[in-house]
Amino acid sequence: MNPIRHVAIIMDGNGRWGLKQNKSRNFGHKAGLKTVEKIIKETIRNKIRFLTLYAFSTENWKRPKKEINFLFNLLENFLINRLDELHKQNIKLKIIGIKNFSTKLNNLLNDSEKKTARNDKLQINLALNYGSKSELINAFKNLHKSKDKLNEKNLIKYLQTNNIPDPDLLIRTGNTKRLSNFLLWQLAYSEIFFEKKLWPEFNEKDYSKIIRNYKSIKRNFGNI
Ligand code: FPP
Repeated sequence: MNPIRHVAIIMDGNGRWGLKQNKSRNFGHKAGLKTVEKIIKETIRNKIRFLTLYAFSTENWKRPKKEINFLFNLLENFLINRLDELHKQNIKLKIIGIKNFSTKLNNLLNDSEKKTARNDKLQINLALNYGSKSELINAFKNLHKSKDKLNEKNLIKYLQTNNIPDPDLLIRTGNTKRLSNFLLWQLAYSEIFFEKKLWPEFNEKDYSKIIRNYKSIKRNFGNI
């Protein structure tokens, strides 16, 4: 049975779900946050150590201002209301991506990371303003500056996921089959599951089913 240490998720389909309910795309994002909470609980139940959630890509800035503001307000309120509880549950929060938001949100994110830095039950990596290609370019630049030899071991020291094992499993909801500039290096050997359900419809049972399937796969890593 495959061990499972790290699950990465592209939480797609909030907007479509909101519109399907004859409500707004933002209504979908609000519902998406409830799914985030369910999935965190289920991740802990399955004793998985790392969960990486793609919450906002570098390309998502192209969206209408109103939607962007709504998403960041949702995140702010989530941290204000839920961080203590996450901390009590021994959860560590780490942001991957470039923190160039409002001063208020940047401070909140830094404080949340600091407060939970020593927790070790589950590490949630929240990908915010994250783009894999620019992460890689920065890593190559920094490695070049360091004058260390260019090899895999040295390069990964400069990725934002340094010290985090690569995802065993990637899940993308929303019936779309693409990687959207997410963890392109780190996903090289991950098992990928594309899920038809939109993110707000995705639940603990769907997640457990994928985990069960994953566990039964024979992973070869290029071997036979
Ligand atoms: C993709 O759905 C989802 C996002 C860009 C945002 C993800 C945000 C959440 C799940 C809720 C907030 C989470 C936190 C941690 C505060 P989409 O809008 O691209 O869906 P679509 O494909 O239907 O347009």
